[in-house]
Amino acid sequence: MKELKAILTAFERELGAGGLEQLPAQAQLIGYGEISAIFAIKDIEGWVFKRLPLFESLEQAAAYLENFNEYCNILAEAGLDLPKHDCHIIPKHNRLFVLYIGQERFPDANLCHRQIHVQTEEENLDMLERIIYALHDLQVFNQKNKPELEAAIDGQLSNWVWLEKKGGHRLVYIDTSTPLFKRAGKETLNPDLLLKSAPGPLQAVIKLFFLDDVMNRYYRHRDVYIDLVANLYKEQRPDLIPVFLEKINLYLVDNEAITPEAIRRYYREDKFIWQFFLAARRIDRWVKQKLLGRPYDFILPGPIKR
Ligand SMILES: Nc1ncnc2c1ncn2[C@@H]1O[C@H](COP(=O)(O)OP(=O)(O)OP(=O)(O)O)[C@@H](O)[C@H]1O
Ligand SMILES: [Mg+2]
Repeated sequence: MKELKAILTAFERELGAGGLEQLPAQAQLIGYGEISAIFAIKDIEGWVFKRLPLFESLEQAAAYLENFNEYCNILAEAGLDLPKHDCHIIPKHNRLFVLYIGQERFPDANLCHRQIHVQTEEENLDMLERIIYALHDLQVFNQKNKPELEAAIDGQLSNWVWLEKKGGHRLVYIDTSTPLFKRAGKETLNPDLLLKSAPGPLQAVIKLFFLDDVMNRYYRHRDVYIDLVANLYKEQRPDLIPVFLEKINLYLVDNEAITPEAIRRYYREDKFIWQFFLAARRIDRWVKQKLLGRPYDFILPGPIKR
């Protein structure tokens, strides 16, 4: 898209004017990440934009974009079906460069965490099986290419799209905007970028207690499943936990089988980590905007039902 960069530049300029809480009229906020906010922009139909306000230099933003492209290549080579994308770096002011990851937009109803509420249990288990196959493909890729290359993945249902097509379904993985992969055994994602969205005084605490865990869990096949299933609490379908585990355990060796108790324990901890993090960010936003009158560059979610 040729004029896309100009539209995004104008959009970013407007975002700055009213503070991020008051969105420009042509934009709709459709999702939040830990480090990104996801918009739809009226003039650009059929696309979403993941906005990452993280970079202090053009080089830093370009390096991230390069890693994003390599991450997508790895996932595609492993056999995953990914959306079309189109990315642009937009300078904001001299100390901030914003990366927009444009992605083909899918209907909200087709996201797997929406599908579980309208499909039959059998359909849900068929969909889960396809997710298991996709995760398995990546595991095989990793085993073959480690330590030269190894990619992590966040398998939660909200990261997959389930589209009907002739004779079956297409399963698309959309959560590509945090490129977590190792090259020659070394993590390529700069952890400071993840910390950036946390308030200064808390960064040290997060680094000490949570960061390693959060960055490593998505490399461990079994932990990816635990995370996926535990999220059924948040998605208000805990009733599906036993049948999902039964299916997943078919694909794990016996001594790795996941129990409902392991899911409960994990969910309690994980919920604590993210609620703690979000509360801290809200306080930080309040201090910056209200007390210091400074701009706050991130967009935070409202109350999250868990
Ligand atoms: N291509 C898309 N089409 C439609 N909706 C999307 C698309 N990409 C993202 N969304 C919506 O935004 C939500 C969050 O997107 P995504 O999973 O990419 O980011 P995240 O998990 O919040 O990211 P991060 O990895 O930055 O923490 C999705 O669950 C979905 O509801
Ligand atoms: Mg996601």
